[in-house]
Amino acid sequence: MKRRIALSVFIFIILGFVHFASPASHDGIPSVQDIIAQVKMRLIQETPQQELRNIGPIQIWKMLTEQEKEILTTNHIRFSVSVPVKVMVFTDPSLDPEPFWLNERGFERTEAQIIVDDDEYIGWEKTFPQGSIGLGINSFTEEGEQYFVALTPLVKTDPPPVIRDLYPNDCRIARLKEGTPPYIDDDDPISSFPKEWEEAILIQVSEDWVKTAAILSQFLFTKYPSSDQADQIVLTWSEDPRATQTIQWRTGPAVNKGVVAYQKKSGEDPSFPQNAQTVAANSTILETIDIINDPRCYRHTAVLQNLEAGTTYLYAVGDGLSDHWSETAEFKTATKQAASFSFVYMGDAQNGLDRWGALLQNAHRAHTDAAFYLFAGDLVGRGNDRDDWDDFFHNARGVLDRKPIVPALGNHDCRGGHPSLYFTYFTLPINGPAMIESERVYSFEYGNALILILDSNLPPEEQTPWLEQQLSHTEAVWKFVAFHHPVYSSDPDRDNAEIRDAWTPIFDKYHVDMVLQGHDHAYLRTHPMKSNQPVDNLADGTIYVVSVSGTKMYEQAERDYTAVGFVDTSVYQLLNIHVSDNHLHYQTYDINGKKHDDLIIHK
Ligand SMILES: [Fe+2]
Repeated sequence: MKRRIALSVFIFIILGFVHFASPASHDGIPSVQDIIAQVKMRLIQETPQQELRNIGPIQIWKMLTEQEKEILTTNHIRFSVSVPVKVMVFTDPSLDPEPFWLNERGFERTEAQIIVDDDEYIGWEKTFPQGSIGLGINSFTEEGEQYFVALTPLVKTDPPPVIRDLYPNDCRIARLKEGTPPYIDDDDPISSFPKEWEEAILIQVSEDWVKTAAILSQFLFTKYPSSDQADQIVLTWSEDPRATQTIQWRTGPAVNKGVVAYQKKSGEDPSFPQNAQTVAANSTILETIDIINDPRCYRHTAVLQNLEAGTTYLYAVGDGLSDHWSETAEFKTATKQAASFSFVYMGDAQNGLDRWGALLQNAHRAHTDAAFYLFAGDLVGRGNDRDDWDDFFHNARGVLDRKPIVPALGNHDCRGGHPSLYFTYFTLPINGPAMIESERVYSFEYGNALILILDSNLPPEEQTPWLEQQLSHTEAVWKFVAFHHPVYSSDPDRDNAEIRDAWTPIFDKYHVDMVLQGHDHAYLRTHPMKSNQPVDNLADGTIYVVSVSGTKMYEQAERDYTAVGFVDTSVYQLLNIHVSDNHLHYQTYDINGKKHDDLIIHK
């Protein structure tokens, strides 16, 4: 950072004056983003679905109006110069076609090359008079690297040009030389460049702008489109697990209402669900226009109330018409008095959801009594893309419609900024800290255990008073806390000191038994930890676990806190709480049912 400030001061001196304009002051001209959104909508409306799968940059170019072409070829990067200049645009040669506007706007390909971290960029040159210069988009895909720009005065004896009105205003000005990175968001430096361009002005751009016009990567096709038949049926607890059950599901756009039929299970009942008690669902439309083959579906949510504790219920969901009922499934309420129970905890699913689904199904077959499934975040890789969630639910069918899911939010679930789809899919307890968005942080008690779900994507100190309040007011025998980013990392290059500093003193003070986490894509169980040190006795310390259930795997470092650590293995954990002699049996299994870890904690 210091280097960047020093460099900026230096450039300020050599250029005399640099003025950074705000994108908002851009004369009311539509932005590239505006045009792309407009073209995307037109493509969706006018192009048959099957053709959208195969559409390419040339077809998009052909459908643009003259005004759209003008903006896409001149309004991605703009600036003005005080003297005539020669402008060189350095592009990634793997781009096919190369930025299409270069030829059209009179740029000529040259032999000039710049090397950045072994990657070659080729130069396109054009002279411009004093005044405004506008450059176009990189491409209609996310492929390749974003181009960057250099310029020199056309007349060698002219003073260095003053650059004004830079747009976007996060462009930076530097001197073209070895060691300078061409991107504002990547440190990889220029290692070689044409000597005649020594001392040229470099306009540093964002590597990320490669996505600005990436319309072709915005069309998604779900493998599992909605239909009139209910699917994606998932159980959560938004209220007391002893007396309520929340049920959510999906239908296609033609089925705009939902109903749950339910009754206590008592032997075979061929009349179910026709004569059963029913509850109407709250039904809302979910619009995801990026999902070309299924842009609209309905989500239905019903909360069954006043259930009997410790009781198995049959249920089915539908729209109230006899031929639309789902397959009959069952759920079980929590008992009123503390009783032995077990639950399954899994780390990141995220990638390889087919394989993850097989692991989940195996866990369900092997442990049919598990009360719920706790996920420590990163349920999917692209939390803002519905097709990823459609994969997730498809692979979880037959399990999460029978066992409630207890999710924590991972960073991938928040991709795109706000985890809107996550909130759409999971109705969770609204009992977290008042200042934090509902359902990100929550708690519930099941049997003799307290389960606290924190959100490690948010500043940890904002959750600390609530965490302490929950732990200080509970009479639960067992205390579990789950969140995504690990306090004690398994990855060689990761550390979450802020979380550790904020939360471990409270875990120590109230003797949390286990902390269940993900994110590092390996398996790690710590020794019992207290005051950030391993301690000898399980009764004195807290066990921290990192685990992964999907197929993405990272390396693991040797640490003094590691009791058990391994890599390259997708696993799930069974936590079995026995009331009679007050112990917790913790076990880790892989997809073949092979046990990888085993621990008993006695109270
Ligand atoms: Fe993560």
